[in-house]
Amino acid sequence: MISRKKFLKIGVLSGLLPLSKWSGGSSISHPKGRKPVVLSTWNFGKQANKAAWNVLASNGSALDAVEAGARVPEGNPDIRTVGYGGRPDRDGFVTLDACIMDHNDQCGSVAALQHIKHPISVARKVKEESPHVMLVGEGALDFAVSQGFEKENLLTEESRKDWEEWKKDAEYEPEINIENHDTIGMIALDSAGNVSGACTTSGTAWKMHGRVGDSPLIGSGLFVDNEVGAAAATGLGEEIIRVSGSHLVVENMRRGDSPEMACKRAVERIVSKNDSVEGIQVGFIAVNKEGAYGGYSMQEGFSFAVRNSEEDRLIKAQSWNR
Ligand code: GLY
Repeated sequence: MISRKKFLKIGVLSGLLPLSKWSGGSSISHPKGRKPVVLSTWNFGKQANKAAWNVLASNGSALDAVEAGARVPEGNPDIRTVGYGGRPDRDGFVTLDACIMDHNDQCGSVAALQHIKHPISVARKVKEESPHVMLVGEGALDFAVSQGFEKENLLTEESRKDWEEWKKDAEYEPEINIENHDTIGMIALDSAGNVSGACTTSGTAWKMHGRVGDSPLIGSGLFVDNEVGAAAATGLGEEIIRVSGSHLVVENMRRGDSPEMACKRAVERIVSKNDSVEGIQVGFIAVNKEGAYGGYSMQEGFSFAVRNSEEDRLIKAQSWNR
């Protein structure tokens, strides 16, 4: 049995991002929005936003934009928490989780998918080419192959070496830390006024084989409601699932919260469920129908990238535990 304390053990928060790239702390201060706009989690979100922006700026749909954006970190082997090059589970398997949701409440999802570099595109195919919302494991792989996706080895030499190192003194127990949680969640509002979102990850490094986090779960890692806006999550999936985090953020906005306040209240809900927040990092991002946006996290160190016609920057989110 894995002790919860051990399971929640985190590494240091420092060193994730060069401070010089940060735009300073955001406050609950983005009352006015503009469209189109795209937001995504963490520092690699800037590159992903660029790909999404190319779609949005030519009047493309938010759905096409978030798929294009999410594919960027998925295909980059240097990003060790998403897609190709992602760190494996404790048995050495790279298993990927992803979901996508559009302005018509249509969604698709894959979990524990192996051998396919772009799970976000498989998730979109689940949405559009299957009668289901979610496919997992072997079934998801069979479906992907039937849709023309190529089977590949996703375990890069660097990730294999990390895994070998981890095994030396890990006692075969999964370990949660901030570095292992850099899921990309991406949400966008297009010039037609529609919202969509995508979320994709390799999950926590060294997880138990078969573990699935929040990222492929509609309502947890991602939620979209075209009457209100969209939200996405990053961080410790087990905690995000317990409160249906992204759905909670969207419902907070429906009741009148600004995007940042909506994220803050979702973080506070998670705080209220725990005796201690030591070792727990979660972050949320949100956008509303006006194009106003925000983010908030449990611990310091979370940043998100935003791009609209005025801004292209990385924002250090306010955090609960500062
Ligand atoms: N948020 C990613 C995961 O927990 O798998």
